[in-house]
Amino acid sequence: MIARMATNPLPQFPPGFLWGVSTSAHQIEGAADERDPSVWDAFTAEPGRIKDGSTAEVACDHYHRYPEDVALLAGLGVDAYRFSVSWPRVNSPGGLDFYDRLVDELCAADVRPVPTLFHWDLPLELDWMSRDTAARFADHAAVVAERLGDRVKKWITLNEPAEHTLLGHALGAHAPGRRLLFDALPVAHHQLLAHGLAVRALRAAGADDIGIANSHGPTWAASRRTEDVEAADFYDVLLNRLFADPLLLGRYPEGIGELLPGDVESDLKVIAEPLDWYGVNYYQPTKVGAPEGAEIEFSGLTLPADLPFSVRELEGYPVTDFGWPVVPEALTELLVGLRERYGDRLPPVVITENGCSYEGIDDQERIAFLDGHLRALHRALEQGVDVRGYFVWSLMDNFEWAEGYARRFGLVHVDYDTLERTPKASYAWLRDALRTQARR
Ligand code: FCB
Repeated sequence: MIARMATNPLPQFPPGFLWGVSTSAHQIEGAADERDPSVWDAFTAEPGRIKDGSTAEVACDHYHRYPEDVALLAGLGVDAYRFSVSWPRVNSPGGLDFYDRLVDELCAADVRPVPTLFHWDLPLELDWMSRDTAARFADHAAVVAERLGDRVKKWITLNEPAEHTLLGHALGAHAPGRRLLFDALPVAHHQLLAHGLAVRALRAAGADDIGIANSHGPTWAASRRTEDVEAADFYDVLLNRLFADPLLLGRYPEGIGELLPGDVESDLKVIAEPLDWYGVNYYQPTKVGAPEGAEIEFSGLTLPADLPFSVRELEGYPVTDFGWPVVPEALTELLVGLRERYGDRLPPVVITENGCSYEGIDDQERIAFLDGHLRALHRALEQGVDVRGYFVWSLMDNFEWAEGYARRFGLVHVDYDTLERTPKASYAWLRDALRTQARR
């Protein structure tokens, strides 16, 4: 038995608060030969793209081992499981059958299925630079809802369109590997439009519990100098407002709409379809200052010298094995800030991802991370933010995109040679913490 870090019991979260864990299809499923290819397969095949040279062809082999993984979820005692539906798999013969089986298995284990309809693994023949992809996504949503809607009640349209735009299309660090910088803006708009059309398709199929998972993090200006504050505001627009403003306010931040092609005004009506809840993925705050005229290496990315901001090292905090600063109090700040910014337009919030990468099975750092972030989340509740749920990223170690298997975010360790699953200390900690919650 692994030694557990003694922590005081967590404060009580409201009855009905939804406790869950998250994964995504490409990162865990494997069985790549049993589905159509995605942009991630093509990207991974390009030499040098994935740091450890690995692929997601097998990953955690969840496709074949899902009963064991559902048993791990049941043992953890979570209410809900957020997974993603691979669009290329849905397009393949028999592909939807897999999600049918998975959803049945989850229901039998009394774990609510919460599918995300797109978590970055775009079918290879599609392209977010094309407006048509938005309509295709709505068709995909309708197909999945038709098959799973009798058992799935809670839906997520997109995962982190901001990261997918930035990393995949602006900076080229993720699939499809384009480095378009600000010319990537149509990718943002088309994903937003896809989201709105999918909300309509899901509603037409009877869904009434729909959200999106957006990445957010406080942006901290490097100093009070006007140049630094302006640069931080600009970064804040890109990360925190480019997607949230159209979704929640029905308009783009100043200066953005003009850069987009097409009839943006009428698209915005679709994009701002009311949501039942708003998903927030939180990992870290970012310190930003005025441009320094040089390329910057940041979190595995190369940021060009001519951006109107520069991302700075955030000193004075512990960091995860990924080098990400651990700042739980920034989660409170973020949620209170979102409520201040959007007021009544902000639907109830669900934390759809939060977690950290550390090596080892006796992962006391992960326990401290989760404990700290749950307390910070509770402080946001005390300050009146309507938060309805919290999902840990991730159930198990998995293929961390361009980092390959080098980053371990799981509550469950995966041995990539044998595919054996071993619950870590944090798994036992979360299970026990949930037992101290009144729950329903
Ligand atoms: C998020 C992604 C998720 C995972 C975590 C660590 O940005 O949504 O797939 O990679 O980061």
